[in-house]
Amino acid sequence: MIESTLFKAVDIVTKQQVLNGDVLIENGKIAAIGPSISASAQEVITDSGLTLLPGVIDPHVHFRDPGATHKEDLASGSMAAAAGGVTSFFDMPNTNPATISCESLDKKKQHAANTSIVNYNFFIGATADNLQECIKAENIPGIKIYVGSSTGTLLVDQRDKLDAIFKQSPHLIAVHSEDEAMIQQKLQEYQGSTNVHDHQYIRSAEGALKCTQMLTDLAIKHQQRLHICHLTTWQEVDWLKQLKKYPFITNEVTPQHLWTFSPNIYDQWGTKAQINPPIRSKEHQQGLLKGLLEGVIDCMGSDHAPHLASEKNQPFGQAPSGMPGVQTSLYTMLNAVNLGLFSLQQVVNWMCQAPARIYNIQNKGYIAEGYDADCVLVDLKAKTTMNQAIMASKAKWSVFEGQTFQGKPIATFVNGNCVYREGDFFTQIKGLEVKLDSKL
Ligand code: DOR
Ligand code: ZN
Ligand code: ZN
Repeated sequence: MIESTLFKAVDIVTKQQVLNGDVLIENGKIAAIGPSISASAQEVITDSGLTLLPGVIDPHVHFRDPGATHKEDLASGSMAAAAGGVTSFFDMPNTNPATISCESLDKKKQHAANTSIVNYNFFIGATADNLQECIKAENIPGIKIYVGSSTGTLLVDQRDKLDAIFKQSPHLIAVHSEDEAMIQQKLQEYQGSTNVHDHQYIRSAEGALKCTQMLTDLAIKHQQRLHICHLTTWQEVDWLKQLKKYPFITNEVTPQHLWTFSPNIYDQWGTKAQINPPIRSKEHQQGLLKGLLEGVIDCMGSDHAPHLASEKNQPFGQAPSGMPGVQTSLYTMLNAVNLGLFSLQQVVNWMCQAPARIYNIQNKGYIAEGYDADCVLVDLKAKTTMNQAIMASKAKWSVFEGQTFQGKPIATFVNGNCVYREGDFFTQIKGLEVKLDSKL
């Protein structure tokens, strides 16, 4: 383990500005930032022309461990994270068994301590009858509720059960928001369809909006901390815009919903593009982009949901929903910076600072003295044509394959230790449990 590292003459993305200078890391913390630091360090990084960002905090991944470790496990998922500049992740509870008790949470945390090369934490999943367990859970990002069903068996869609959770939860509530009754009705209507284009109509925009409106009503009624995962419709963006006066309601978008749209994505990728909630039309995609730029959308999560290519290549109706993304999300956003769509500061806000703010994570999300030394060195000029050979996930595919992205994570540091550098992983290093306070 290296106890001190000095980055010489890097572009540093801080809270206020991008400045060129030196950064000294000591004992896992950012010890100093300055125009020229003369202190000695065990490792000195002098590569010129690189930029140092806070490590990405990905608040939404599915690492499949336990239960489906042929698709991913905490080791491979954390390696994909590191290669994508992600230094902390929050994993979802729809594993097998599902994470619905404090005991299963503790097991996951223990397993992550032994296997994950980046920092970690885990949501507890709500069921119709585990509210006491959810209340008891400690140091978690929040309670995840599948209000519409998706991969796995978790579902709470009864109004009285939801009301009780919103009333009593001491934790942030993160939701998969789609109206279950509307999905079931549409499934009847489209029964037997083998056309993947129907996916976006079965899981309709109206269903997403209706569910989001019901959930924001509940949050306001109980003054409850609500985080809406993976927004997909311009109508939800419009709805949430007039609720910005309630700071306890936050939301997220994924790169796949931001950068791809129907029908092109389904024509090109078929069931590999099938995710819940679905990728929709260009109008929705543009509504999400606008929502992000206007500050309605708060943060980005990858919703990394790996399935093997062989599983995804089954016909529509049999193929599972979900796609990998933890390794590619920063690539897509750095490329957008190079296209002039976003500033680097905005990307750092959506991918690092906002997750830290939303989940009350102490000491992460910023390059600032005293903060944890979670950071990623990027080359904003380097171009990468996305390909399977560089993918660390067990699901070695991506709908971004074949696209060229300008801007590349070169090296990733977790608590001051280099865990990834130009294709090499240092798996003897292990991440730590992310400390947070998900209470309002
Ligand atoms: O497409 C999805 N896949 N949406 C989800 O909500 C779950 C995820 C998965 O776990 O595969
Ligand atoms: Zn979801
Ligand atoms: Zn998800």
